[in-house]
Amino acid sequence: MDVVVLPDPRRAERLAARLIADELRGNPRLVLGLATGRTMEQVYRELVELHRREALDFAGCRSFNLDEYAGLPATSPNSYRAYMQRHLFDQVNLDPANTHLPDGTAGDLAAECSRYEELIEQCGGIDLQLLGIGLDGHIGFNEPLSSFASRTRVVMLSPETMAQNGPLFDDLGQMPRRALTMGVGTILEANRCLLLATGAEKNRIVTQFVEGPLTAMISASALHLHPHCTVILDEAAGGGLQGLEHYRWIFANEPKWNTYR
Ligand code: GLP
Repeated sequence: MDVVVLPDPRRAERLAARLIADELRGNPRLVLGLATGRTMEQVYRELVELHRREALDFAGCRSFNLDEYAGLPATSPNSYRAYMQRHLFDQVNLDPANTHLPDGTAGDLAAECSRYEELIEQCGGIDLQLLGIGLDGHIGFNEPLSSFASRTRVVMLSPETMAQNGPLFDDLGQMPRRALTMGVGTILEANRCLLLATGAEKNRIVTQFVEGPLTAMISASALHLHPHCTVILDEAAGGGLQGLEHYRWIFANEPKWNTYR
């Protein structure tokens, strides 16, 4: 696992966007796994900027989002489909037919989850999976005790997630208690994972998942099983890491980071 700790959130978000952009330039048919949440908003802003300023081309890109709330139609402003339209899809040249999220309104949610897994496979698997982290250590909506072998499925949200994401809903009563999410096993099959976490409130969980033991209580810790995972943090989120100086030294000296410093 590569850990990069940058002085401020803007630099962390910009690095995440640049890494995504470079993967896309290297492979115009990129299958891109996408994430939602407040942390990602600025990453998408950066990508939109790169599209406008440097003609970053999404025409051949296929995208798969990690998750969606159960029961929320795409028209609901709180759905992750609406989030993605607002922050990215409506502002770049991604073909709408190539943007995929699980359908939270499907009649048979279990069948929808299987369909989603098959679609990912038909597209050749995910090349780069962007990830955030929940305060309970979730990636996607893989709440504590999600199996490391789990696949796309319906899950109950944890009380911590209800508290974390609830304020985004006008009325907490409208927040679904269940969601469809790629599994930890699905995420681990991506060729590359890129996790971004910023802000002091993520400090505790970041320290636990980066330097703590592998545990199903913290789904993000499964990323240690991934051979190509990059974790980008700002000082506030990464400042509690014991190996901070070591990670800084690697970022300052490792040639592969030359163009990103
Ligand atoms: C939601 C998403 C997660 C994301 C998390 C982080 O719960 N399902 O994939 O990691 O939000 O949210 P934020 O960036 O707002 O802290």
